[in-house]
Amino acid sequence: MKELEKPKNLYDERGIPRYWFNIVPLLAEYFEPLPPPLGSEEQMSLVAKVIVPECLKQEMSRDLWIPIPDELRQMYAWPLKRPRELVRARALEKALATPAEIWVMTEFDSPTGSHKINTALSQAYFAKQAGKKRLVTETGAGQWGTAVAAVASMFNLESTIFWVRNVMQWKKNRLEAMQNYGAEVFPSPSDKTKAGRDVLEKYPNHPGNLGIAISEGVETASSDQSASYVLGSVLNHVLLHQTIIGLEVKRQLEENDRYPTIMVSCFGGGSNFGGLILPILGEMISAGKRDIRFCAHQSASYPNLVCGKYKYGEPDHAGLLPKLKMYTLGTDWQGDSIRAGGLQYHGAAPIISLLRHYGYIEAYAYPKDEKIVLEAGRLFAKTTGWNPAGESAYAIAGAIGLALEVKGSRKKRIIVVNVSGRADMEMETYKKE
Ligand SMILES: Cc1ncc(COP(=O)(O)O)c(C=O)c1O
Repeated sequence: MKELEKPKNLYDERGIPRYWFNIVPLLAEYFEPLPPPLGSEEQMSLVAKVIVPECLKQEMSRDLWIPIPDELRQMYAWPLKRPRELVRARALEKALATPAEIWVMTEFDSPTGSHKINTALSQAYFAKQAGKKRLVTETGAGQWGTAVAAVASMFNLESTIFWVRNVMQWKKNRLEAMQNYGAEVFPSPSDKTKAGRDVLEKYPNHPGNLGIAISEGVETASSDQSASYVLGSVLNHVLLHQTIIGLEVKRQLEENDRYPTIMVSCFGGGSNFGGLILPILGEMISAGKRDIRFCAHQSASYPNLVCGKYKYGEPDHAGLLPKLKMYTLGTDWQGDSIRAGGLQYHGAAPIISLLRHYGYIEAYAYPKDEKIVLEAGRLFAKTTGWNPAGESAYAIAGAIGLALEVKGSRKKRIIVVNVSGRADMEMETYKKE
């Protein structure tokens, strides 16, 4: 039991962290070493070829704190407008008539509409440094694709995006945003890759899923020396970059003299959830405490943490990448389409999976009709003026449920909820059938 070792001057004069927090060494100290990826020589060399070298180094790093380069931190300040504000949603509390405090991390207040740009910017920065000319990726909701398209243009890189077909079909404004940044965007499965063609041959009208889109992106990047494949969730370095969220939250909670009872987020692959909770969870376990609940809210369409098995599984449909030890539903899982397309991934980040395995993460799955969730999103919009992304509405529904549990009591409950994105580019999310 000891205090978490921290760098001096962790925050700059604006309150932006100078370091990312890497929980991996603490996992080894308090639980077990994070199980490594398992793959053939061919799969391992594919990873080394397509992932940005600095990100791969971070993926395997055992350093507790990893410095954020100054130039990148400047870009976090502008154009990303960090630090993001942590605000108390008093009007929402009032509407619920709850004694609970609801503190909202405003990740939605980002240029492209979500937290995804935090790691997109970092990965693009390191890709540029490595002399790359092009970024290739997958996207589900399209928030990640928009973020990659935007940062690629900031660094004068090309971008190619494989977008899950059944989401791309209805998010017209978001498609235009990506194209406006100069990205080429293909519906996945596509005829551009062997992985896509193989699926289309068997199922010509396949709606697509993130596992297939990842295979298409990896295959495309592997055939172009000047390209890097950037991933929007799941991997250690993605969660690492997102810890900027939790670090900013922690500083602002302390400034407001608050200690959280429960931290809440929506959960697809685990990047916004991990980003929010890991710095605070790291401090909690180092102090030998267990006094904060960490709650992930997902969809019954893809309940990877709730119904998945903790085992080695493929991250992508074609099995190009090494297996990861994670809670997984398997790559053959094809859940029903939901509006919150960003929550439709079959696996959960290995870091979060290990913590769930040890009982540190609670997970809940909302019904596929999304009625409760979208109603929660509407209430947030009506009480704050901000329209949350469909994915983020799951976090809000979670926070509301937890706030209502103490209604009528005098129980003090401090709920911190990450609202990961906004829906301005896809208001159809809230259309009533
Ligand atoms: C706004 C938003 N929130 C959350 C997610 C889920 O991803 P993750 O679990 O990696 O944060 C997505 C994925 O696209 C998203 O667009």
